[in-house]
Amino acid sequence: MRPHLLLLLAVCGAGSAAGARSYSLRGSWSIRSGNGSLELPGAVPGCVHSALFQQGLIQDPYYRFNDLDYRWISLDNWTYSKKFQIPFDFSKWQKVNLIFEGVDTVSEVLFNNVTIGKTDNMFNRYSFDVTGVVAATNSVELRFQSAVLYAGQRSRTHAGHAVPPACPPPVQRGECHVNFVRKEQCSFSWDWGPAFPTQGIWKDVRIEAYNICHLNYFTFSPIYDNRAKEWQLEIQSSFDVVSSKPVGGQVIVAIPELQTQQTYKIELQPGERIVNLFLEINKNITVRTWWPHGHGNQTGYNMTILFELHGGLNIEKSAKVYFRTVELIQEPIQGSPGLSFYFKINGLPVFLKGSNWIPADSFQDRVTSDVLRLLLQSVVDANMNTLRVWGGGIYEQDEFYELCDELGIMVWQDFMFACALYPTDPGFMESVRAEVANQVRRLKSHPSVIIWSGNNENEAALSMNWFHVNVTDLQTYIDDYVTLYVKNIRETVLASDQTRPFILSSPTNGAETIAEGWVSKDPLSNYFGDVHFYDYVSDCWNWKVFPKARFASEYGYQSWPSFSTLEKVSSKEDWSFKSKFSRHRQHHVDGNEQMLHQAGLHFRLPQSTDPVRTFKDTIYLTQVVQAQCVKAETEFYLRSRSEVVAGQGRTMGALYWQLNDIWQAPSWASLEYGGKWKMLHYFARRFFAPLLPVGFEDQSVFYVYGVSDLHSDRTVTLTVRVHAWSSLQPLCSRVTKCFVIPAGQAVLLYKEPVSTLLRCGNCTRERCVLAFYLSADLKLLSPVNYHFLSSLKEASGLRKANITATISQQGDAFVFDLETSAVAPFVWLDVGSVPGRFSDNGFLMTEKARRVSFYPWGPTSKGELEQSFQVTSLADLY
Ligand SMILES: *[C@@H]1O[C@H](CO)[C@@H](O)[C@H](O)[C@H]1NC(C)=O
Ligand SMILES: *[C@@H]1O[C@H](CO)[C@@H](O)[C@H](O)[C@H]1NC(C)=O
Ligand SMILES: *[C@@H]1O[C@H](CO)[C@@H](O)[C@H](O)[C@H]1NC(C)=O
Ligand SMILES: *[C@@H]1O[C@H](CO)[C@@H](O)[C@H](O)[C@H]1NC(C)=O
Ligand SMILES: *[C@@H]1O[C@H](CO)[C@@H](O)[C@H](O)[C@H]1NC(C)=O
Ligand SMILES: *[C@@H]1O[C@H](CO)[C@@H](O)[C@H](O)[C@H]1NC(C)=O
Ligand SMILES: *[C@@H]1O[C@H](CO)[C@@H](O)[C@H](O)[C@H]1NC(C)=O
Ligand SMILES: *[C@@H]1O[C@H](CO)[C@@H](O)[C@H](O)[C@H]1NC(C)=O
Ligand SMILES: *[C@@H]1O[C@H](CO)[C@@H](O)[C@H](O)[C@H]1NC(C)=O
Repeated sequence: MRPHLLLLLAVCGAGSAAGARSYSLRGSWSIRSGNGSLELPGAVPGCVHSALFQQGLIQDPYYRFNDLDYRWISLDNWTYSKKFQIPFDFSKWQKVNLIFEGVDTVSEVLFNNVTIGKTDNMFNRYSFDVTGVVAATNSVELRFQSAVLYAGQRSRTHAGHAVPPACPPPVQRGECHVNFVRKEQCSFSWDWGPAFPTQGIWKDVRIEAYNICHLNYFTFSPIYDNRAKEWQLEIQSSFDVVSSKPVGGQVIVAIPELQTQQTYKIELQPGERIVNLFLEINKNITVRTWWPHGHGNQTGYNMTILFELHGGLNIEKSAKVYFRTVELIQEPIQGSPGLSFYFKINGLPVFLKGSNWIPADSFQDRVTSDVLRLLLQSVVDANMNTLRVWGGGIYEQDEFYELCDELGIMVWQDFMFACALYPTDPGFMESVRAEVANQVRRLKSHPSVIIWSGNNENEAALSMNWFHVNVTDLQTYIDDYVTLYVKNIRETVLASDQTRPFILSSPTNGAETIAEGWVSKDPLSNYFGDVHFYDYVSDCWNWKVFPKARFASEYGYQSWPSFSTLEKVSSKEDWSFKSKFSRHRQHHVDGNEQMLHQAGLHFRLPQSTDPVRTFKDTIYLTQVVQAQCVKAETEFYLRSRSEVVAGQGRTMGALYWQLNDIWQAPSWASLEYGGKWKMLHYFARRFFAPLLPVGFEDQSVFYVYGVSDLHSDRTVTLTVRVHAWSSLQPLCSRVTKCFVIPAGQAVLLYKEPVSTLLRCGNCTRERCVLAFYLSADLKLLSPVNYHFLSSLKEASGLRKANITATISQQGDAFVFDLETSAVAPFVWLDVGSVPGRFSDNGFLMTEKARRVSFYPWGPTSKGELEQSFQVTSLADLY
């Protein structure tokens, strides 16, 4: 990875007086508990929990019930300190700053025993002037206060009305009043995560010393001038001019590959100065744009900026520039009372396919670039193009966005406010303003970020009065909402970045919400904006329960992670669905019961006499049900792309909840903690394929839509096969004439009464299943999709399949040649803890033989795979 541009150091000037020096304070610090009973070394960046774990003073915090046993850590007030000598003569510098890229969270900062400031916002960057106190030998000390105690105190001393919710639901076993502290909101617990309110220095910290003038940061935004038909680059740099006289010089900006170079004269007055430059990109050269994954390349160009300031001060920076435009289109739709809600990238309407991102760990120091790369590669491997960075977590680290740029993952970026009302006292508001300015500046040069969104679900929370505030007080809370999200966050964003859309909340009605005074009566309307939709009670096989929305930015179902993942944090007595552990890890009210309820609608529940067998079978079944439910819902959104029915439709986004897990527990995720793919993630790879046939039934007629995400029309034929559960030979096969599926559309390809199909196969609903696919010239163009004609608990003729695998190595991958003795639904290949993924998994096996590949994420062998390999299919549970 290239180093992040903001961390690049200025090159020292040739003149003796000019230039800058930087001294990193990363590495080992000393950590002390509140009463001094514990003293230990700890890494920075890092946190107290990680330091205690690394010193062997605690176990893995994720093990069994340790989240509760280690509560004392976050209730104590810890102190971080470090003594150091600056390896250069500090007296020669006009200005010396102590810079923290991130402090978690509430602390008093002392430098050489003098209080130099305070921190109270994990998402801010702090720069303290230590020019007057710096010496040859220095000490820096951060006296943290427990964020949990701080939040409680703030809520008690808050003047005026209450700011609910006070505490999370008891099932979350979390901490209270998280909305009073600007810290990762889910660190006080969530319905999929534990409470680990960390303390520590979680990002880079350093000393910076300079003379004359210092470049604080620079950012840039490509802008397409529609009239001139040319690209411009707006470049903003910020200087601290410490010279008493103005500093003159020039800036040379170059993008060699675009044969573009420009020189600007600048003169900087003393003080903090912002310089805005406009670079016109050479029109003679074709600029290749950045595209989302699946729509083109992620072309970027190297840019260099050289600041040549008088006095011999040269500062050189380089960065990758990507050109793309983004528009959020909200315009009238014929035959509908509402407005569209879709994104155009480089002028092309793009369906957003993907999921929602939560923090990858409770302890951010464990989120290495390998962890990020693995998760984000899995996103594009599943044919997704979008992640929503959800507002209850963190603004992700630079490398996250760099990887999204490189991989073509569009980011819907929430601001970090979720499922709560928030205070609006002046201190809080000022802190938020700094936070938002800091994050927008840090992230706005990334093409992957396509939208800013003010919060998660807080518009809905107000309009539906989730927190049961007195109706007479409601206007006060709406006023607070406008104060925080409109007058503060929106205003701060627009002042710094107007190159991408801003919406106030998710879900929201967008333009309609604004028209209604920022809080809509019904933010979940299908006619406007985006929706979040959850329903665990209704039968998820019935597509009529899903909202025909413009954009579904959250929806999903829970499942349990695989046994190999749970095994790492549990012991034998935990391995049953009813164990204390299984209840402890479930943070969603009635979550385990809801999973069994949904499973019971179409499947027989496991009932082996061996409790561990039943546990493993239940895990498998919850993954089957989750995958099947999210498939049904996603396919409904995909096929609603081009049509308007009763004013609803034109769906242009499907982001299921949620991509990843923060720990090993049941959740809505499709990737387990550690990165292992659940069955849903393999399903997503299929249902997000660029060309997909979607089948469904309405009044006993079977329909197939062809859904295309391609840029050109495609001629295809559709094959529909009737398979009996009892036979590996199809009973009947229908091949349609050629169809054209227009680029970027969903169109009806086929309809036939189920009774006709059954007659063709001389079959019944219980005895048969439909499989169908798109092809051209005998070449398969889509995944093979299927449609069940009855609940699988009523399926007749379904036999236990004997599935065997012959494993061989082929280059870096391993090939599994599978053979089955019978038709098998939901065939699940599992190699336990061997890291890696299969080319396909969780599939319906209707043919005798099938070949899949396994791509390992680390060293492994044929022997290890043979030993750990297990295969399950549905009838094994019966
Ligand atoms: C110091 O604090 C720890 C953790 O809160 C507590 O367990 C211990 O009893 C305290 N020790 C003293 C001497 O107060
Ligand atoms: C932590 O600091 C707060 C505020 O100063 C104080 O009320 C609390 O007693 C301290 N807790 C411990 C365990 O020292
Ligand atoms: C810091 O100040 C405290 C009290 O003000 C004093 O006891 C201590 O010796 C000082 N430490 C240093 C390193 O100057
Ligand atoms: C673009 O091409 C024209 C014609 O060849 C030339 O006159 C002009 O200087 C070129 N512009 C740039 C910026 O290179
Ligand atoms: C993407 O890049 C590849 C390799 O450089 C090139 O062959 C292809 O034409 C590019 N595609 C587009 C759409 O520009
Ligand atoms: C762009 O910069 C990167 C990193 O410095 C370098 O590896 C690459 O070769 C450069 N590309 C071009 C076309 O100069
Ligand atoms: C609602 O208002 C009534 C009357 O003013 C008051 O007694 C009650 O405590 C309020 N409830 C809440 C939740 O604020
Ligand atoms: C249709 O299936 C039934 C039941 O399996 C069987 O008895 C009957 O012979 C079949 N009829 C034909 C025409 O194949
Ligand atoms: C499964 O099939 C394999 C290979 O055909 C055979 O060796 C094995 O005995 C079969 N197992 C069962 C339980 O039928």
